[in-house]
Amino acid sequence: MEGGLGAGKTTFVQFIAGNLEIGNDQYVSSPSFSLLHEYSGTLQVFHMDLYRLTDEDDVEAAGLLDYLEHHGLCLIEWPERLGTEKPDNYLLIEINIPDSEHRTLTLTACGPSWKKRHSKLVSIVDQMNQQVA
Ligand SMILES: Nc1ncnc2c1ncn2[C@@H]1O[C@H](COP(=O)(O)OP(=O)(O)O)[C@@H](O)[C@H]1O
Ligand SMILES: [Mg+2]
Repeated sequence: MEGGLGAGKTTFVQFIAGNLEIGNDQYVSSPSFSLLHEYSGTLQVFHMDLYRLTDEDDVEAAGLLDYLEHHGLCLIEWPERLGTEKPDNYLLIEINIPDSEHRTLTLTACGPSWKKRHSKLVSIVDQMNQQVA
C-alpha cells in the first residue's frame, strides 16, 4: 500500500481485517513502532509499517523479509523501503486523497500470479464500486 502519511493505509487494513473475520479482540492498530502486527482470521495476516526503516538492508536487519515467504497475507505500508527485495508477485495499492472525505485506490497486479487474478479483481472492484454508488 503506497500513499503518504494519512493516506488511509492502516484504515484499509482495518477494512480488510473485518472481511477476514479478524474479531474486535484483535484490534488493528498502526504498527509504526513495532513494525509488524500479526492477526489471524480466515487468513493469517502480517501487517507491516516500514516508514521508520530506510532501505532493504534495514528491513532485512529487522527480520521482516522472512514474512514475505510466510503462508498468509502480507499488507505492507511504505513498501518503497523494500527496494530490490520487493517480491516477484504482489498487488500494488496506491491510495490517493481527492478530498478529506474520500480515498481513491489504484490497484496494479504485479507479477504472473497476480496478473492471473486480474479479471477476478476487476469484477470484485466493479461490485464494490456499485455498492458505493
Ligand atoms: N477511506 C477513507 N475515507 C475517509 N477518511 C479516511 C479513509 N481512510 C482513512 N481515512 C482517515 O485518514 C486518516 C489517516 O488514516 P490512516 O489509515 O492512519 O493513514 P496512514 O496509515 O496511511 O497513515 C484517519 O483520520 C482516517 O480516519
Ligand atoms: Mg499507517
